[in-house]
Amino acid sequence: MGNDETGHGFDHIQRVVGLADHISQSYPKADYVLTITAAYLHDVIDEKLVADTVAASAEVRQFLSDQGLTIPQIDTVFLIMDNMSYHKTLDGTAKPLPLEGQIVQDADRLDAIGAIGISRAIYFGGHFGEKIYDPAVKPRTEMTHAEYRNLDNETIINHFYEKLLTLKDLMNTEAAKRLAEHRQQVMLDFLAEYKAEWNAEA
Ligand code: ADP
Ligand code: NI
Repeated sequence: MGNDETGHGFDHIQRVVGLADHISQSYPKADYVLTITAAYLHDVIDEKLVADTVAASAEVRQFLSDQGLTIPQIDTVFLIMDNMSYHKTLDGTAKPLPLEGQIVQDADRLDAIGAIGISRAIYFGGHFGEKIYDPAVKPRTEMTHAEYRNLDNETIINHFYEKLLTLKDLMNTEAAKRLAEHRQQVMLDFLAEYKAEWNAEA
């Protein structure tokens, strides 16, 4: 993740770990080692970041085994990583996440919203050549996974309406819901300001 240029660098990983740690305080029943392991690794076998996900998965399995994790622990980490992504929810193919996975998913989604979320969306969109804004291009609803990954007619501002503003209501845990409220307002304020300035309002 150290060389990532899409907003998924190691700084993202460290924030997700920090947020997962924070949320975990409210859930003593969650297995802390599994939560933090999944938080650190959640993006390393992701389709959008690695070309060969099968090879990457084999490498991660071996690594976790070398660290002394048992097969059931490794399977749980993979269950989380394989099913926490947003695009899985679009396809309806996501398996239910264990509590540890719900915490990591919330932590990842918190890092996609608020001030950090705004900067990551702009960074991601710039990397993939999206326009920032085009009032003629309306936000899409009811996207399939393939449509979600097709960026031909995507704009960064539309990504807020298509995904980022919806994340608040998708949070699993109460702790994350609380943090999401403020971050949501930061995005709404940004969008209102952006459009006012776009229209050259004085
Ligand atoms: P997940 O991490 O749940 O699989 P994604 O890979 O779809 O979710 O997105 C991760 C982050 O990348 C988003 O929260 C956003 O910051 C950025 N991103 C994804 N798609 C776009 C897009 N079309 N435009 C701008 N940013 C995007
Ligand atoms: Ni992530």
